Amino acid sequence: MCGIVGYLGHQQASPIIVEGLRRLEYRGYDSAGIATLAGGRIEIRRAQGKLINLENQLREKPVVGSLGIGHTRWATHGRPSEINAHPHKAGGIVVVHNGIIENYLDLKESLRARGHSFKSETDTEIISHLVEEHYKHSGDLVTAVRAALKEVRGAYAVAIICEQEPDKLVAAKLGSPLVVGQGQGENFVASDIPAMLSHTREMIFLEDGEMVIVDGTGLHFTDLVGNPVQKTPKTITWTPLMAEKGGYRHFMLKEIYEQPRALADTLAGRIREEQGDVYLEDLALSDEELGGVAKLNIVACGTSWHAALVGKFLIEKLARLPVEVDIASEFRYRDPIITPDTLTLLISQSGETADTLAGLREAKGKGGKVVAICNVLDSSIARESHGVIYTHAGPEIGVASTKAFTTQLVALVLFALKLARVRGLLDADGCRALTDELVKLPRKIEEALEQDEAIEEVARLYMNASDFLYLGRGNQYPIALEGALKLKEISYIHAEGYPAGEMKHGPIALIDENLPVVVLLPNNDTREKVISNMQEVRARAGKVIAVTDHDDPLVRDNADQVLVFPSTCDDLMPVILSVPMQLLAYHIAVLKGTDVDQPRNLAKSVTVE
Ligand code: AGP
Repeated sequence: MCGIVGYLGHQQASPIIVEGLRRLEYRGYDSAGIATLAGGRIEIRRAQGKLINLENQLREKPVVGSLGIGHTRWATHGRPSEINAHPHKAGGIVVVHNGIIENYLDLKESLRARGHSFKSETDTEIISHLVEEHYKHSGDLVTAVRAALKEVRGAYAVAIICEQEPDKLVAAKLGSPLVVGQGQGENFVASDIPAMLSHTREMIFLEDGEMVIVDGTGLHFTDLVGNPVQKTPKTITWTPLMAEKGGYRHFMLKEIYEQPRALADTLAGRIREEQGDVYLEDLALSDEELGGVAKLNIVACGTSWHAALVGKFLIEKLARLPVEVDIASEFRYRDPIITPDTLTLLISQSGETADTLAGLREAKGKGGKVVAICNVLDSSIARESHGVIYTHAGPEIGVASTKAFTTQLVALVLFALKLARVRGLLDADGCRALTDELVKLPRKIEEALEQDEAIEEVARLYMNASDFLYLGRGNQYPIALEGALKLKEISYIHAEGYPAGEMKHGPIALIDENLPVVVLLPNNDTREKVISNMQEVRARAGKVIAVTDHDDPLVRDNADQVLVFPSTCDDLMPVILSVPMQLLAYHIAVLKGTDVDQPRNLAKSVTVE
C-alpha cells in the first residue's frame, strides 16, 4: 500500500520526508517521489524502484523548502514508472494519494472535455486537476480541496500543497489511513506512525471524512464540509518495529486483520448494481470472446492453487463451464491440450512465481488466451497475460499468504459471475443475489475476527500435537487443504487436508486420541454427511474441532470444541472459514515460538523452478 509523508516546520523538509518514507518501506512500493515548496515554486523529484533511486536524484538535483510531501507508490492504476509515481501536479497544485478513486475514468473524461490534459495513467492525477479547477474559482486551497473531494468516489488519503499558498498543507482521509504528528513548531502527516516516530510521539488519528489543515499557526481539524472537529493527541509508546506492524505482533496477524479492507478494495468499482452485472476493468476479453470459451484451465501454486480449486466449484456451478485445475509445476510439463477456445487462468499473488509463469507461456505458446488473477500490478504474469483481474490486497509481507488468498477467492467469484452473465446462465437478479452477499463480506469477516480469542484457546489445547487432519467437503475441501498448509508452513506441524468423505479410504487409520481433526462444517446440503464423518473420528477417540456457521446440539454432541462464524451463501462460505484456518495456524506457531513471518526454508516469492 502506498505511503504518504508530509511536513511543515522549521527544518528542511526533504531529508525528513525521505526518512519517513524509508520507515514506510514495509508497506511495499515500486516507486517514490517528493515535492517541496520554496520561493513560491514547487519542485518535484520522482523515481521508479527503490528509495535509493530517489535519493540519488535528490543528491544530483536537491530540493529545498520547509514544506513538502512525499510518497511511496504501490501501483494500482497504471504501471510502476516514474511518470506514474506521485506527486502529481496540475497548475500550482501538487497531490499525493493513497487509495483507489472508483469513478476516475468518468472524472477524467469530463476533465478532458473541459481542456485538461494528463501525463500519467493514475487515478490520482485527476485529483490534482479537480483541485486546480476549483482553485481557479475559489482562490482558496482548503475550499478547493473540499469541492474536489466531493466529486470523487472511492477510498483516499491525500496530502496537498499549492504554490500560491506556501505556508499550508491540506490532508484528508476516507477509507485509507492518515495520522497527524504534532511536534514543537513543526507538524507531520503520514500514512502510519513509524514515519514520524523519530520526531514526535504525539499522534492524532484522522477518522474517515476528516481533514487537517497544517499551517503556520498549527493544526486545524474539520470535516469535509468545514465544520470544526475536536481532536486530542495520543502519546505513542511503541518502538519503531512495533509501529511498522501497526501494533500487531507479526505482519501475518496484521494482514489477517486487514482482510475486511482488502476485500472491500477488491470489490470496489466492480459491482454494477443497477445492471445486475460485474465489471472487470483489465480483463481485456470481449463478452463474445468470453462467451466463446469452451474450457477453462486454472493454473497456480500453493495457496493460489487452493484458490483455483475453489474457483472450479464457483465457475462450474454458476457458469456451467468445464474447469480443469492444475498445479503449475505439473501443467508446464504435461503437454496440456490447449485449443483456440481454451482459456487459461493463472492465479498468483506475486505475479512472479516461476512455475506459474512457465504455465502461462506454455498455454500462450499453444495459441490459447490467458488471463491472470494477480496482486502485483505489472508483475511478469500480469504483463504477459492478455488480461488481468487485480486483487487489491496491498503488499503481503508475511510469507504465509492470508489476505492475498481471500481476495483471490473474491476475484474468482467476480469472474464466475462475469462468465455466467455472458453465457446467459444468470440473469440480473441472480447476479444481484450474490453481489448483495459479496458487499456484506467485509463486515462478516470483521465479525469472524472477533473469534480470535476463542481460536487462541483451541490453539493452546492442541499446540503439542505432532499431526493434524483437516476435513471439508465440496468447496470447503480446498479450505481444508489451505488450513493444513498454513499450519505446516508456520508451525512445522505435519498436517493433511482431505475431502471428508475420503477419510475412510485411508487416513482413518491415523486416528487416535492424539490426533486433532479440524472439520469445516458449513450449514449446507452435506452437513449431515460431515457430521457422520465427525462421528467416525470420535468413535476412534480422535479430537474434533468443528468450524461452523450453525451451532446446535448435534454439532456440540459430536465435537470437542465448536467455533462459530457468521453465515453467508454457500459460494462465499470458503472466504469466511478461511479466517479460522489462518488464526489457528498463527496462534499455534506463536505458542511454539517459530518465526511466523519468515518461516524456515520458505521464500515469499518463488522465482526459481
Ligand atoms: C502460501 O502461504 C505460500 N507461501 C505459497 O504456497 C504461495 O501461495 C505460492 O508460492 C504461490 O505464490 P504466488 O501466489 O505468489 O504465485
